Amino acid sequence: MKYRIQALLQEVQNLTASNKEEVEQLRLKYLSKKGEISQLFSDFRNVAGDEKRIVGQMLNELKNTAQDKLNEMKDAFDNQAGADALDLSRSQSPIEFGTRHPLSIVKNEIIDIFSRLGFTVAEGPEIEDDWHVFGALNFPPEHPARDMQDTFFIEKNPDVLLRTHTSSVQSHVMTTQKPPIRVLCPGRVYRNEAISYRAHCFFHQVEGLYIDKNVSFADLKQALLYFAKEMFGENTQIRLRPSYFPFTEPSAEMDISCDLCGGKGCNFCKHTGWVEILGCGMVDPAVLEACGIDSKVYSGYAFGMGVERIANLKFRCKDLRMFSENDLRFLKQFDSAM
Ligand code: DAH
Repeated sequence: MKYRIQALLQEVQNLTASNKEEVEQLRLKYLSKKGEISQLFSDFRNVAGDEKRIVGQMLNELKNTAQDKLNEMKDAFDNQAGADALDLSRSQSPIEFGTRHPLSIVKNEIIDIFSRLGFTVAEGPEIEDDWHVFGALNFPPEHPARDMQDTFFIEKNPDVLLRTHTSSVQSHVMTTQKPPIRVLCPGRVYRNEAISYRAHCFFHQVEGLYIDKNVSFADLKQALLYFAKEMFGENTQIRLRPSYFPFTEPSAEMDISCDLCGGKGCNFCKHTGWVEILGCGMVDPAVLEACGIDSKVYSGYAFGMGVERIANLKFRCKDLRMFSENDLRFLKQFDSAM
């Protein structure tokens, strides 16, 4: 029996296996109820009395060694499995997906709606000259209408300025393209305004321009009604109030019915039931002529809206500054909102 135990002890110490299943086979071979070591324990009762102590010790040592050895082998395979599951190509710090900026969401929605009416996108420079921003658009020099938009000029050359409105893109399009023209001009504009919760020195506009034969004010009104309903919902109503812009005649400002109170009057609409959203009108023949378009053949309409204003109406954001402060807690809220 002693020899048998010693032989088994050596055998167990030299055990090897190439996977977890083999370790389990070995455990069954040696340690299960009918295993070789268990068998020796059953045979133990036949050992002579004076040998019992020493044989018992040897048997326990064999059993413990076998258990330790098999556990050690199993652990090795477990750890290896863990190592295989470890993806070393993964980033240490998880990358968060960005969300679209609320102003981009609204701008894209505006472009989407007007593209269904056949408008395409045109863009122009933010750093402009006087003619494209004012001259071509019927703001004569010294005209008080220039004061409507507080302009950033370059001190050394007042002919270089930051555009105050995207209407300047009209001047580029009309001098470089032939009617029919149907463009939407999104972009950033700059004005020398004190920064507060309701004004900023830069903001965003989308300009629309349609020039063709026989374009009428009715066409303008229909396009804007379609836009209002698509943007703010089927029940939205519009109202056009006479206004003044140098580059349109007649000019109007458009209000939409306040969807907060359903037109009954609330704080948001200053108890009028209406909120202003854009300026518009028929392109002044003087503008067409200045840009080389025959005003006896062609007519057109134009409109311009502030993207922040539309975003505010959609998202009820109380402080305009939030749009340019890049606070992720704010910016993350909008991607699924539309
Ligand atoms: N450019 C004007 C502004 O920034 C907005 C505007 C009004 C654009 C009437 C237009 C228009 O095209 O027809 O205040």
